Amino acid sequence: MRAALAQCQDGHALPRAFYTDPALFAWDMRHFVLAHWHCVGHTSMAANPGDFFTAEIAGESLVIVRGEDGALRALLNVCRHRGSRVCTQTQGHASNGKFVCPYHAWTYDTQGALSSARAMPDDFDRNKFPLKQAHLQVEEGMVFISLAERPLGLDHVREAFSVSAKVYGWGRAKVIARKTYLIQANWKLVEENYQECYHCGPAHQEYAKRHTYSRSQALRDGPDDAMRQRDALLGLNLQDCDFYFSNARPGQESADSIRSALVTPMVSGSRDGLPVAPLMGDFKGRGYDGGSSFIDVGPTSNFVAYPDYALLYRTIPQAVDTTAFELIWLVDQDAVEGVDYQTDAVTWLWDHTSQEDKHIIELNQRGVNSAFFEPGPYAPMEIYARSYSEWYLAALRDAVQNTPTAN
Ligand code: FES
Ligand SMILES: [Fe+2]
Repeated sequence: MRAALAQCQDGHALPRAFYTDPALFAWDMRHFVLAHWHCVGHTSMAANPGDFFTAEIAGESLVIVRGEDGALRALLNVCRHRGSRVCTQTQGHASNGKFVCPYHAWTYDTQGALSSARAMPDDFDRNKFPLKQAHLQVEEGMVFISLAERPLGLDHVREAFSVSAKVYGWGRAKVIARKTYLIQANWKLVEENYQECYHCGPAHQEYAKRHTYSRSQALRDGPDDAMRQRDALLGLNLQDCDFYFSNARPGQESADSIRSALVTPMVSGSRDGLPVAPLMGDFKGRGYDGGSSFIDVGPTSNFVAYPDYALLYRTIPQAVDTTAFELIWLVDQDAVEGVDYQTDAVTWLWDHTSQEDKHIIELNQRGVNSAFFEPGPYAPMEIYARSYSEWYLAALRDAVQNTPTAN
């Protein structure tokens, strides 16, 4: 680890080991990913008592379940007997309000309590063996999980969400589609790719026809006047909401929010740029604003907002050379499929863009695997990818300092 860190060069992409070394991947998970909050879905995915969905974070499986008491919990999917996965479905309803372990049938209720354990001695105390729980917080309907012993604060996240997500009404949304893309590449290549739009022109012709400029250009030049006026109409002041990455206050989860104009006269991220679903949140009274918003939280959770639909974009590291990313599309909860929207029309732009991303990220990994790979300099338009890498490296340097045996 020390050797890999010593090879890092300011303003340059990371050296090969960071994308290829399984030992480094283990450090990533332990000292970076597990220290943060991750959005795993939307409350509508477990709307009623007994409803659940599963999520994976750094190799840990969690069951997000609404208990009989109405509360949402994140239960570790690890049986308290001999450790089997308890829940094997990705989404569903706990029949009779129970999760039965497939190995020896220890049975848990929707609040994680062990309600029965077959043929155990009389003095066995079931109360001592509930499923373990992760921290869970809901912001504007989005479900965040942390497996950290002492989770980071959510002040920046709440600020970013109150400034921008709130107007989109995500608390009153429903999921209409989920799609997972399996990428043969290290998770940091996936996130770095998401964090820069230097590649958007050459690699995403459809996306680039709709979005006027990339995030970094928006930061450097500021939004145009028309966009500023639209922001003011919406009550947004996103300049106040750029805490990103290393700017996060100590002990706080990072979050940022930024706006981007759509190419006139487009109003949504759709095939023809026309409306694709009913307006959401405050836009119902105001109409389309000609823009879209991007929010990022922590290392793996990204959100894209148009006035008529929202997108949750999750990065899920699986192994040093394998990453999944999942897209979850949301529309207003009252919208009716086939009447108010067609799912294919809502998902088209980001599904298309994500297939292109899978292709370029996998090519990136194949090149990085080469013994001849030498990290080159980030371009100015890659400022967010660079900031992300620096944030990640700072966390690993801290971890190494606190681990005398690191080599
Ligand atoms: S491991 Fe779950 S009941 Fe034995
Ligand atoms: Fe992309």
